[in-house]
Amino acid sequence: MSTDAIVMLKDDHKQILRTFREFEKAGERAHAAKGKLVDRMIELLTVHTYLENEVMYPRVRELLPELEDDVLESYEEHHVADVLVIELAGMKPDAERFTAKTTVLIENVRHHIEEEEDEWFPKVREGLSRTTLREIGAEMLETRAKAPTRPSQPSALKKAVDAVTS
Ligand SMILES: [Fe+2]
Ligand SMILES: [Fe+2]
Repeated sequence: MSTDAIVMLKDDHKQILRTFREFEKAGERAHAAKGKLVDRMIELLTVHTYLENEVMYPRVRELLPELEDDVLESYEEHHVADVLVIELAGMKPDAERFTAKTTVLIENVRHHIEEEEDEWFPKVREGLSRTTLREIGAEMLETRAKAPTRPSQPSALKKAVDAVTS
């Protein structure tokens, strides 16, 4: 299995985008199915954001200071998604705003993933060696084992608080 950091993150993106498509295909009144899909989305996004916030972004920021602006913009985009995820995690699937809020989350995250894959990752791939990307990947693999899966877990909450206060 590849531990290349970019390969790993793109693989996460694929799984996340799949849940988005399934949500969009689900019927208007398929509350139970949509609730399950959103639970899965929340889990995937919580883990993925944690890995990027804790490992990928800080490493890239340190090794490629010229990408600082991209990193800072990405942290802000994560923060917007975090807010929506926290709200959705506390919402019932048949609530009036559930689908609307999920749709806005999907729009935001799709845009963010496109920016990462089309603009940011290529710059990182160009700037870092394969060995370094593998080392970052190995660190993410370790971090994944202790990553929060729900936004209410202390490690996820701490990140959310840090993001608004620092
Ligand atoms: Fe990201
Ligand atoms: Fe990502």
